[in-house]
Amino acid sequence: MRLIVTPGNPLRGSARVPGDKSLSHRALLFGALASGESRIGNFLVSGVTKVMLDALAALGVDWTLDENILRVKGKGFAGLRSPNTALNCGNSATTIRMMAGALAAAGIEAVLDGSPGLRRRPMERIVEPLRCMGVPVEASEGGTAPLRLGARPTGKKLSAAVLDLPVSSAQVKTCLLLAALAADGETVLYEPGPSRDHTERMLRSMGVEVESRIVEWGGRVLYETHIMPLETALKPVEMNLPGDISAAAFLIVAATITPGSDISIAGVSINPTRTGIVDALRGMGAEIEIVETGQQAGEPVGDLRVRYAQLVGGRVDGALVVRMIDEFSVFGSAAACAEGDSIVRDASELRYKESDRIHTLCEELGRLGVVTEEADDGFTIHGGTPGGGTVQSHGDHRLAMAMTVAGLAARAPVIVEGAEIIDESFPAFMETLCRLGANISVEEDNPV
Ligand code: S3P
Repeated sequence: MRLIVTPGNPLRGSARVPGDKSLSHRALLFGALASGESRIGNFLVSGVTKVMLDALAALGVDWTLDENILRVKGKGFAGLRSPNTALNCGNSATTIRMMAGALAAAGIEAVLDGSPGLRRRPMERIVEPLRCMGVPVEASEGGTAPLRLGARPTGKKLSAAVLDLPVSSAQVKTCLLLAALAADGETVLYEPGPSRDHTERMLRSMGVEVESRIVEWGGRVLYETHIMPLETALKPVEMNLPGDISAAAFLIVAATITPGSDISIAGVSINPTRTGIVDALRGMGAEIEIVETGQQAGEPVGDLRVRYAQLVGGRVDGALVVRMIDEFSVFGSAAACAEGDSIVRDASELRYKESDRIHTLCEELGRLGVVTEEADDGFTIHGGTPGGGTVQSHGDHRLAMAMTVAGLAARAPVIVEGAEIIDESFPAFMETLCRLGANISVEEDNPV
């Protein structure tokens, strides 16, 4: 499927974005591990959450989905049964990594696998620390999926550990925090910097003792998380999820780069570990107002207003990178429309996402006539106005959406090939932009 984006229309009016992807995954999985029924409102119904729903069904978890209201009947870790076949995690690295931690704690035998794209993503980052905790787990050659987890004798606990993690990754942290719930004492994790903290917030609300702080250790400034094993059952989850700031980021950039635009987006998660894109764009001259409206699910929520602004080039590096780790493709679209150069560094993690996002972003912006330079750990974009052309999604939902957004402010129409992948995280993306005034049409590969 391809999207045909005709530039020129300003975006106006108000929009909503789907429930937060990270919170949807956590509320679903943690709800399945709790004792009792969890109710999750505004759950994200999309490709990446469907694979987790199906994987949990294969583990014997009952759930019902009524529009976007999810009910999960948790029976505790002991309620999970070993699946008959490999669990398919699709394209979702969040599913495979978090599920590995949950199954390690449950101590059941399972094989975790996924799409060819998922089989390219690094898994050593969870396998090694899980092994340190005594989890019988094997990755395939090259440290990738499929992952094979062995059973643990009933009554045997995992070993509590002090783990020094080389990358700041919320998926890795969540995997290990879940495993640590079945350990024989306190586990401590050190990350180079704070990654998104949804797991800590949600587990705390479910009765888990987990605390984080910034510390100095061996001359390094690190983010330290302590977690105690589970003494009693996890309390069920009862929450309405806020909108996803990573989905909102596409609308924020779309309005910022399309002349004449003025939009508002209500009810978005504004957790400070996720709002790096707002800081980066504001630093380049974007007009983004945020009004905090309260808390939902222990997470700060706000309403956003975004107006068109001529951006100037900016630099993103250091601690800001992890706070906007999912937003670099759309940051690239903003940078392509800015006056001057924009530089990204310290972002080599982008090479391990749904595509090698440093390479694919530079390649696809290049097809629109934008001059880019790749670095090992980032890129430079020489701003201006993108031209028209045909771009590819590379099976990466965020790249497909970012290129669509770039098309709104291009000099001529942009065709985005492989756009069906957008359903992985934001099925109503095109509809949402069109309701705001964008001119986008769809062409199926085999029209009947
Ligand atoms: C996520 C963490 C991030 C992010 C992903 C969702 C999560 O991955 O890119 O989309 O929900 O924990 P990393 O932990 O690999 O940085």
